[in-house]
Amino acid sequence: MQRRTLLRTAAGAVAGFAAAVRPVLAADADIEVTPRPEGDIISPHIYGHFIEHLGTVIYDGIWVGRNSKIPNVDGIRLKFIEDMKRLAAPNLRWPGGCFADGYHWRDGIGSATARPRTYNYWQSSMPPGFDHTETNEFGIHEFMHLCRLTGSEPYLAANVGSGSPREFHDWVQYCNAPPGTVSLAAERAANGDKAPFGVKYWGVGNESWGCGGAMNPGEYATLYRRFITQFPVYAPKPYLVAVGPRGHSKDMDIGWTTGFFENMLPQHRARVDGYSLHFYTDFRNTKEKVSRFDAAGWYDVIREGLRTEEVIEKHWTAMGAYDKTHHTKLIVDEWGVWYPPGEETAPNHLLSQPLTLRDALHTAVSFDVFNRHAGKIAMANVAQTINCLHALFLAQGDRYTRTPVYHVFEMYRGHMGGRLAQLEIRTPERKVPARNGTAAMPALSGSASTRDGRLSITLTNPSLDDAVACRIRLTAGTASEARATVLTHSDKAARNTFDHPDEVKPAPLSVTVRGNNVEVTLPKQSVVSIELRLT
Ligand code: AHR
Repeated sequence: MQRRTLLRTAAGAVAGFAAAVRPVLAADADIEVTPRPEGDIISPHIYGHFIEHLGTVIYDGIWVGRNSKIPNVDGIRLKFIEDMKRLAAPNLRWPGGCFADGYHWRDGIGSATARPRTYNYWQSSMPPGFDHTETNEFGIHEFMHLCRLTGSEPYLAANVGSGSPREFHDWVQYCNAPPGTVSLAAERAANGDKAPFGVKYWGVGNESWGCGGAMNPGEYATLYRRFITQFPVYAPKPYLVAVGPRGHSKDMDIGWTTGFFENMLPQHRARVDGYSLHFYTDFRNTKEKVSRFDAAGWYDVIREGLRTEEVIEKHWTAMGAYDKTHHTKLIVDEWGVWYPPGEETAPNHLLSQPLTLRDALHTAVSFDVFNRHAGKIAMANVAQTINCLHALFLAQGDRYTRTPVYHVFEMYRGHMGGRLAQLEIRTPERKVPARNGTAAMPALSGSASTRDGRLSITLTNPSLDDAVACRIRLTAGTASEARATVLTHSDKAARNTFDHPDEVKPAPLSVTVRGNNVEVTLPKQSVVSIELRLT
């Protein structure tokens, strides 16, 4: 630890040198929290989800089939429904991902036995011997049923890469037209759903710079305009999301953002409500392992996760050059850690990863970044919810476990719909081992919000060596009824398995409140959430 930093986390995080902070003991932190009546609302949708027809995300993970012995509701895994309800999962993005731009929605309606078997984008990535042909058993009706069972809003990704405006508009009518109007509404009713689905969130393609069509931003902007100009107008008012950059590129892909907005006149820009940003903590081309790593690997992954802040800020600034009032908000609809292949939980569980405590801390620092930029981010969707990449759940047949990532989602629930408060962390910056020597990183990460007379504070201590004693001062009001929860483990690579599903789980943590002062010690390698009643 070499220098003092001040991390201010309200209208945007500012990390830098603290000019005049009072001296702190080594490994101690002074934190100041200021509730702000004018603070941005943290959209509950930031805690959103993404599920794709990829590997075993849908089939086996979520869809076990109506005749399965695995407890289910109309074919949907019961445990998954229960856990998503527990998290108040705000939304589900579906059907892809790359799969979306090869998906034709009509293949997934009508009698399940009559549905065609179709090519799945991901089948060529499956190991030899595994058939990944799409059965279309899980289509729009099954997806909407899942949304209703979990209380989540649907967010559909339309096929731009191999579809047409007509196919897209038909899907919109099929989903949203009131009964007794167009034929597609009658067809929906005949297939079991008389009432419109009321889909508000529509993604116009996915990764159109890559698997969604390998376009340049100008080509995509042209297609975006064609796809949305005759968008059928039904309730609810649509929220249209354009494909944005590959944020984890070395150059952050700013060229995509400027290229896209440049090719849109102001009247078109007004029809871009959301702008998708993908940010993977991308270790695919490294030797990093998911489940075995040293200190450098631990810090590298968490530090790379923090880079999302700069990516958000840079793209927001680039968008502002064309959209002065910032009508268009960011939708981080794919984020998470992506390790190299080789540690899948089973051979056919494509892109599944045995996530550890390290990934839980990565989740926490990512959420703190999203919270701190609540005014810019309307939604975020973890990639993906089950059996893939940054998963909250792993499932195989009748075996099921929550990963450490799940617990962070649960610990951050207090922020959903809360009003961003200012959080200033005064603590020396930390020098940490890195693959290429050493690196500096903030000693703590955090965010704070208020809602209904309650204050939620989340803090992460990434140190593998030191606990951090925190003195938190509320600059206005006093606190009572403090409750703190900690997620940690003595083994930095600890994880939950089917045989030991509770190896990593939250536990109560002692916290002291005296008037406007709160004292709590963050164990090393931990995530802590504190809930206080404001008086
Ligand atoms: O989440 C896995 C894949 O990552 C998605 O299908 C794609 O959009 C992204 O490249």
